[in-house]
Amino acid sequence: MEIRTATESDLPGVLEIHADAVARSTAIWTDEPPTLDGRRTWLTSHQEARCTAIVAVEGDLVVGYGSYGPFHAKDGYRHTCENSVYVRPGHQGAGIGRALLTELIERASHDDLHVMVALIEAGNEASARLHRSLGFDDAGVLREVGTKFGRWLDLRYMTRPLG
Ligand SMILES: CC(C)(COP(=O)(O)OP(=O)(O)OC[C@H]1O[C@@H](n2cnc3c(N)ncnc32)[C@H](O)[C@@H]1OP(=O)(O)O)[C@@H](O)C(=O)NCCC(=O)NCCS
Repeated sequence: MEIRTATESDLPGVLEIHADAVARSTAIWTDEPPTLDGRRTWLTSHQEARCTAIVAVEGDLVVGYGSYGPFHAKDGYRHTCENSVYVRPGHQGAGIGRALLTELIERASHDDLHVMVALIEAGNEASARLHRSLGFDDAGVLREVGTKFGRWLDLRYMTRPLG
C-alpha cells in the first residue's frame, strides 16, 4: 500500500468510495449522489495553501483517501484545518485509515497549521477511536444538528494540536 498526493486520475476511485459512504452511511450528511465533477472541485480546492488531498493505493486501486482544508472561511481561523478520512469497504480494519490520518497529521504539522479538527457523527465509534488513538481529544457533541435516513444525528467535535 502506498500513500501519496491525490491526482486527477485517482478521482474515479475516490468517487466510488465517496458514493458508497453517501449511500450507505451517516459519515456524510447528504443523500445527493456525488459526481466526478464534484470530486474534481474537491481536488482543486484541496490543492490550495494549507490544504491537502491524499490517496492510499494498492496497485491501481484507490483503497482510501483523506484530506484537510479550511475549518472556517474567515481568516482568523487560517491556522485550523478540518480533516476527513475514508477507506473502501472491504479494505477497512486493515490499518489504511490509521496510515492516512498519520500522513495528514504529518503534512499539516509542516503546513503552518496549529490545530486539526475532526467532525464525526457521534455514533461512528470506529472513527472516534481512530482519532483518539492518534492524539485527538473530545471537544464536545452538538445534539441533533443533522438528519439522515429519517433520524436526528449528533455531531462530535475532536481536536488535535499540531506541530
Ligand atoms: C473510520 C475509518 C476511516 C477507519 O479506517 P480503517 O482503515 O477501517 O481503520 P484502521 O484499520 O486503520 O484502524 C485504526 C483504529 O481505528 C479504530 N477502528 C477501526 N475500525 C474500527 C471498528 N470497526 N470498531 C471500532 N474501532 C475501530 C481502532 O481504534 C483502530 O485501531 P486498532 O486496530 O489498534 O484497534 C474507516 O472504517 C471508514 O472509512 N469508515 C467509513 C467512513 C467513515 O466513517 N469515515 C470517517 C468519517 S469522520
